[in-house]
Amino acid sequence: MLLLVTDQKGVKHELEALDGWRAMEVMRDWGLNIKAECGGACACATCHVFVDPTWVDRLVPALSEEEAMLDTVADTQDNSRLSCQIIMSDALDGLKLTLAPSAAK
Ligand code: FES
Repeated sequence: MLLLVTDQKGVKHELEALDGWRAMEVMRDWGLNIKAECGGACACATCHVFVDPTWVDRLVPALSEEEAMLDTVADTQDNSRLSCQIIMSDALDGLKLTLAPSAAK
């Protein structure tokens, strides 16, 4: 399955993703500019992404821990999510994300 990511410089990437992997792990392992400081524990918000509007409602809604962590970053939008909380599956094949400035290393 593919994960389509626009990085902080506006460059588009088509990343091969594996079922069950976190979107954060896919971007990190392909070498994109994502800090993901806490390694996926929902404790840092440095894996912040903006979800393409056509995909927002197709994701599992954020839990309160994720919402609370997103409240700590300045550049959030309505479509903000933590990419470590997005688990790739066939249903998310072609998911489009944009890396937030606050996710940069
Ligand atoms: S990697 Fe830390 S909250 Fe996602």
